[in-house]
Amino acid sequence: MTVAELNSRTIGQLAVEMPIAIRVFEAWKIDYCCGGKTPLPEAVEAAGKTVDAFMEELARLSVAPAQGFDWRSQTLTTIAREITATYHGYTREELQTIDPLATKVLSVHGERRPELAAVLSLIRELAGDMIPHMLKEEQVLFPYVDQMEEAAAGHRPAVTPFFGTVKNPIRMMMLEHDRVGELLVQLREVTENYTPPSSACFSYRELYRRLAELEARTHEHIHVENNLYFPRAVALEETAGSPNPAVEGCGHGGCNH
Ligand SMILES: [Fe+2]
Ligand SMILES: [Fe+2]
Repeated sequence: MTVAELNSRTIGQLAVEMPIAIRVFEAWKIDYCCGGKTPLPEAVEAAGKTVDAFMEELARLSVAPAQGFDWRSQTLTTIAREITATYHGYTREELQTIDPLATKVLSVHGERRPELAAVLSLIRELAGDMIPHMLKEEQVLFPYVDQMEEAAAGHRPAVTPFFGTVKNPIRMMMLEHDRVGELLVQLREVTENYTPPSSACFSYRELYRRLAELEARTHEHIHVENNLYFPRAVALEETAGSPNPAVEGCGHGGCNH
């Protein structure tokens, strides 16, 4: 990709078109998931970098073998199944098992490290947001999009959902993603970029390592939804004809009720 092409793209588009860019965004702490609509030149400048340096970094990383699932070539139904199996499954499991670990580390080291209390409360807030959020996607949004895709394949009109248009739950999901993004920023801040003190025990180090991993995988998860799945679902609905445009913009997430 040329510099001119890079200059004309948002970071969300780049993350979809060349997933290797995600590695540069993560390394440079550029929010490519919730902040996916930011143009690349603006995002790199805010990170104190340049588009040229970005290209060099991409070239360096491209030497490594490409890996991962090619989301773009899949149907929306397959993407939703993959999101559920890969990201939702991992997130549920991780949030459930990281809580007792953070509780244990707090009970042992909390007196000298008061930030551990903030870490535990942020983990609980994250779980309180993510778990119902994923359930709404799995029980309301994904089944509707599956149904819409199946109807389109059979050249039939989609059934009008109770939430009017798919844009309503998507708007709500994106707001919730923003909140999750903010909680992750706070976790990174209170843990000083997930750096345990030099004297930290194994559990302490393991807690921070797992939190850093949770952050990276949540960024990927939100990116796949915000920059790939949601725009395609909206485009599919538009092609098929908006079922009930009169209720669009009511601001109610539908699946949030
Ligand atoms: Fe999700
Ligand atoms: Fe989501």
